[in-house]
Amino acid sequence: MTTQSAPLADVELPPFDVPPTVEVSVDADRRAALREEIKALLKQRDAVLVAHYYTDADIQRLADETGGYVSDSLDMARFGHEHPASTLIVAGVRFMGETAKILNPEKRVLMPDLHAECSLDLGCPADKFAEFCDQHPDRTVVVYANTSAAVKARADWMVTSSSAVEVINELKAKGEKILWAPDRYLGRYVQEQTGADMLLWNGACVVHEEFKGEELRDLKAAHPHARVLVHPESPPSVIELADYVGSTTGIIKAAREATVDELIVATDRGIFHKIREAAPGKTLIEAPTAGQGATCRSCAHCPWMAMNSLEKVRNTLRDMSNEIHVDAQIGRKAVVSIKRLLDFAAARKQQIYGANDA
Ligand code: 13P
Ligand code: SF4
Repeated sequence: MTTQSAPLADVELPPFDVPPTVEVSVDADRRAALREEIKALLKQRDAVLVAHYYTDADIQRLADETGGYVSDSLDMARFGHEHPASTLIVAGVRFMGETAKILNPEKRVLMPDLHAECSLDLGCPADKFAEFCDQHPDRTVVVYANTSAAVKARADWMVTSSSAVEVINELKAKGEKILWAPDRYLGRYVQEQTGADMLLWNGACVVHEEFKGEELRDLKAAHPHARVLVHPESPPSVIELADYVGSTTGIIKAAREATVDELIVATDRGIFHKIREAAPGKTLIEAPTAGQGATCRSCAHCPWMAMNSLEKVRNTLRDMSNEIHVDAQIGRKAVVSIKRLLDFAAARKQQIYGANDA
């Protein structure tokens, strides 16, 4: 809509470590045995498994086979909230477990690995963020789901990549100016789509920021009929080459509906499992990450998502360990910004599909 770039926050952020992406290979018999053990434990513990599309394919299969759910961050939160199980096991990263706990304080929320962080969350410490908000009291504070409970507690709205453009359009129509955090690439994309007045926090996803525009251009030239599907956490040079830009769920839908045989995908390669199910027979090509001769830190697979393994799911359920706790006062504040989005999304669905299908 507009090419004007939104200004970035001038805040010095503490450095944080990015672990290497470690994928443990486990033989087929062991995996089958673990799956059976987990199925039995889920029943015994009255638990349901909710997984993100970027997790291990075995974990995604298990969630599907046991009445759990595999989805994007918004839908994971909604499913966990609506499901009657007393324990949620959230295979994803920490903010997803926290969101589940905030929405369901009476439920037990467990995660396979409590060290599964997110660079966007780590790059937006609550104290620095609160100072920044205090400096801009005239702005509506909108934060991405990939943030801590304390940052959500400071926000007016939480959004996800599947809802950000619609929410900001609505706020813009009411004349509101936006303070956006933490992803500067998603923020810039949303600003360009909506033309809203947005001030951006300077965070980034360590996985998506590695996708490279120049190398993608070469790849497109070598595959001229391929459709390019891009997550909006990617840099502008990658987004501008996309045929489709959207959330993880949006990318899977775009893959299903594509009328070409080849798809170039710029998001975490964990999503290939669901794309293969949705679009069987299509050739999937990873968008280039660090470029020729360079090294990348994550190479299109999130180091924290990779911490979720079948073995850890089994251990967590067996021991009922790795419980997520959220301070009650922070939770009571954070739930306001999260519920605003859930209500908004439900109303949009109602408008689009009518009362019967909503
Ligand atoms: P989605 O909300 O699109 O699933 O994105 C979450 C995420 O962490 C992407 O990196
Ligand atoms: Fe966070 Fe990026 Fe990992 Fe998503 S892929 S959880 S945004 S670090």
